[in-house]
Amino acid sequence: MMQKKIGRNDPCWCKSGKKYKVCHADFDARIARAAAQGHIVPTHDLIKNAEQIEKIKESCKINIAVLDYIEKNICEGMNTAQIDKIVYDMTTDMGGIPAPLNYEGYPYSVCTSVNDQVCHGFPSEDVILKSGDIVNVDCSTILNGYFSDSSRMFCIGEISEDKKRLVRVTKECVEAGLAEVKPWGFLGDMGQAVHDHAFANGYTVVREIGGHGVGLEFHEEPWVGYNSRRGEEMLLVPGMIFTIEPMVNMGKPDIYIDSKNDWEVYTEDGLPSAQWEIMVLVTENGHEVLCW
Ligand code: MF3
Ligand code: CO
Repeated sequence: MMQKKIGRNDPCWCKSGKKYKVCHADFDARIARAAAQGHIVPTHDLIKNAEQIEKIKESCKINIAVLDYIEKNICEGMNTAQIDKIVYDMTTDMGGIPAPLNYEGYPYSVCTSVNDQVCHGFPSEDVILKSGDIVNVDCSTILNGYFSDSSRMFCIGEISEDKKRLVRVTKECVEAGLAEVKPWGFLGDMGQAVHDHAFANGYTVVREIGGHGVGLEFHEEPWVGYNSRRGEEMLLVPGMIFTIEPMVNMGKPDIYIDSKNDWEVYTEDGLPSAQWEIMVLVTENGHEVLCW
């Protein structure tokens, strides 16, 4: 997309108050060179300024606090509707709004995905956590219009070695991807690292559902997949914020959506799936994890 032409002495588009020539002029020239070489490049609306980053971090604080509380309290015998209530109550007590609630018709405050549920699991009184279950709790918060989004896996009671390994390797996949996040690198550097680590461990990564830009909206560009290759996908520049949230399957990558509600996603082969989600900021020197 074309950006509007801006004079070198005009105020910078990032609202720093500085003149363009001493602020983002060189930055834009570097992006333009990458675009000329055929790379996908970010538009200005994906680049957060310092003030926006501060506001987004305030939102992240709620998301982290909620997941920390769930981590301490989740246990065998609990039903996932109780988790939904905790998320709603804590988020609103802290001045936020659960972002999933009514998002495109989603009817709950959180997603709780158990075992072969890949994502978007509906909290329910009928889903009672039992020993041996692995569950992803995916939390997202809106605070003063700024969005945060992260998820963690929890192991209930005694877990099989197979499931333990899936949960651990999935977390390692996120860490391997994160290590590739740096300014003037590419989103595909991250994606390939995630995929390679899953594959090396005999797992597959869900292809149809990915991460996303986040901060000013729940889901922004770019779409963040893991079947990408090093040097491909969007150029990463300081100020971009996106999630890394691979869904890693013990068996085949294939999934289906429950036609009863058009939300809940399951593995086709019934084998377990795990997911961890972090929110990462591209900085001048590398990256900063904002939410986990
Ligand atoms: N938290 C999910 C994500 O990581 C969003 C799910 S959409 C919802 O992007 F409506 F189910 F919340
Ligand atoms: Co997300």
